Amino acid sequence: MNSAVFAEEQRQAPQMGELAPYQDGPSLTEAVSTDEGVHLTWQDGQHTTLPLLWLRDHCACPACRHPQTRERLYLPLDDISDTPAIELAGGHLYLTWQDGHVSAYHGGWLYQRRPEAEIPTAVPSPAPWRDQFTPERIRHADFLTPEGEKAWLTAMLRDGLALITEGPLVEEEVSRLAERIGPQRATNFGSRFDVRSKPNPNNAAYTAVGLPLHIDLPNWRQPPDIQLLYCLQNEASGGESLFADGARVVNALRQQDPEALKVLSETTIDFRFQDDTHDISVRAPVIKLDDDGQLVEIRLNNWIRDTLHLPAPKMAAWYRAYRVLWQLFHSEAHQLEFTLLPGQMVAFDNRRVLHGRREFDPNSGARHLQGTYLDRDMLASKLRVLARSA
Ligand code: OGA
Ligand code: ZN
Ligand code: ZN
Repeated sequence: MNSAVFAEEQRQAPQMGELAPYQDGPSLTEAVSTDEGVHLTWQDGQHTTLPLLWLRDHCACPACRHPQTRERLYLPLDDISDTPAIELAGGHLYLTWQDGHVSAYHGGWLYQRRPEAEIPTAVPSPAPWRDQFTPERIRHADFLTPEGEKAWLTAMLRDGLALITEGPLVEEEVSRLAERIGPQRATNFGSRFDVRSKPNPNNAAYTAVGLPLHIDLPNWRQPPDIQLLYCLQNEASGGESLFADGARVVNALRQQDPEALKVLSETTIDFRFQDDTHDISVRAPVIKLDDDGQLVEIRLNNWIRDTLHLPAPKMAAWYRAYRVLWQLFHSEAHQLEFTLLPGQMVAFDNRRVLHGRREFDPNSGARHLQGTYLDRDMLASKLRVLARSA
């Protein structure tokens, strides 16, 4: 690279093709070639070695990353055996490959993407509920502002449940709120559903019976992520809302009865919904864990659970484990109970937080909720977009 090109590039830090403000980080102070790649040292003393293949793959020049879509154009099919010329300028890294291609990397961007570091994100990790958990409450009017929306999204992704309060008593408000975040996820119950007691119900929710804790649609390969329930009327006696955090309960089960956790997470069972026009079923465990033993998703819904098709000698252990989990979920230590007021919307992560309701008396007054679902990806996306202007 000749020094004239250099001076030009020094004036403007390399752009790595990403919209989020994730290029902060100390300047590079040293870059040297090693057998493993390029060894980099930053101003704060952190250092790492990045392989040449990786560096070539992450070139953000307009030939390697589309300047408008920001998507990768470079295809890493060739091995990289040549050693590029290495230059540091203005705290950034410049590599000139043997074919003449020049790659420029922002020092802070590299810092945040060194293999030892976690890539920064605006999206919080799920945090299991603590004792006396109280949900975040965001006023409807605040939810319509970027700060309020951010508070709601953060609480949803962290706690798996949040309330919107003081909303208008108008039909379809749940759809309007949902669509601020993303498209409604449709199911066999439609993209928006009414919860009230109906003649000829095709689902327990459309009766007045109490609903023990459950997730919706465990019989789908991918149950809806986020459920929104907007209360328009709640004058009937009873009908209190119930919630419990699967992440918290699974941790408690691990402590109390690791064998039960093993059985429930390693045994696939059947879930099935049938009506005149649908027959939707899946085979999956009640508890799905990741490689670190953390909860991926829970499928607990006793009325959509299908025939237990297991070898007979395994049945007793499965029923025992199921009973232990059921009792934990329904114990006072883990249950959150409150009455949804008209104008309030509760939203929760349907694959993590179980919900239910107490029985109500449909002759004592009206009870009407409107609900819909969203994909969790849309919540995280909205939060990342909001973080751009933070
Ligand atoms: C549902 C449901 C809760 C309620 O519709 O799936 O759980 O409070 N409703 O009626
Ligand atoms: Zn390039
Ligand atoms: Zn439900």
